[in-house]
Amino acid sequence: MSRRSIHSLRAMKERGERFAMVTVYDYYSARIAEEVGFPAVLVGDSLGTVVLGYDSTVPVTLDEILHHVKPVVRATKRMIVVGDMPFGSYQASPDDAVRNAVRLMQEGGATAVKLEGGAAVAPTVERLVSSGIPVMGHLGLTPQSVHQLGGHRVQGKTVEDAQRILDDARALEAAGCFAVVLELVPATLAEEISTALRIPTIGIGAGPGADAEIQVWHDILGLIDDFLPRHAERFARLAPQIRHGLENYLTAVRRGEFPTAAQTTDYRPTMSEVLASIVDEIEAGAVEES
Ligand code: KIV
Repeated sequence: MSRRSIHSLRAMKERGERFAMVTVYDYYSARIAEEVGFPAVLVGDSLGTVVLGYDSTVPVTLDEILHHVKPVVRATKRMIVVGDMPFGSYQASPDDAVRNAVRLMQEGGATAVKLEGGAAVAPTVERLVSSGIPVMGHLGLTPQSVHQLGGHRVQGKTVEDAQRILDDARALEAAGCFAVVLELVPATLAEEISTALRIPTIGIGAGPGADAEIQVWHDILGLIDDFLPRHAERFARLAPQIRHGLENYLTAVRRGEFPTAAQTTDYRPTMSEVLASIVDEIEAGAVEES
């Protein structure tokens, strides 16, 4: 079975079929996401905050993204795997962008890449697309620019900002993006952009009017129980379940209730196996001496 094509996402938009994406960072999680039927996953640079413990996505490197793209690709056969281009991997020049995107596809096996920014990155998008690299755009709150934006704030709240984001979306579509993420923008703006574009919009904190939705694995599965961004919802609560499982394990070992015979091999060699190994040792000694 071959991997889905990026064009299938646009076909879904044309049929009016909504879809969801989720971020994923490791082998077994990717297997589950594919079994569940996601058409595409993102190995996002949110990796920095939810897996690597950084305080933003800014420190994430291309090698770190690659390290996580590889197991996700190995685990899956059908899903589109989008590898995020981290901060610094495409801003300096289109040549840099091509070199780094090629690594994500050639070494990592990613189907496509994602990068942040609007009209300013359109020439880079064009260069990537003309090199055969499918590109997903990302507008609104672009976390790699968090220091410039002054925090994780909703974008596009003034008429001018909203117009700029709409123009950016059009520029990305014209440059050849196959989809665009809209993060933390007002729902009305997301709707307007979704109507204006032929490529699918993928919302996160953008209301129900985007063509599709993307969320971060740890948020929707309740792996972080002391923080939930306003744009997310916990569809499961895994942190308490993990805590419970670990407590049970710790207690069982402390009490001597685990491991038991069921997890142990009580292996006793037969007399002929013992004799054969003695002969082997003598022969090995004889060879060493001679
Ligand atoms: O890195 C990421 O997880 C993302 C999504 C939030 C879209 O960019």
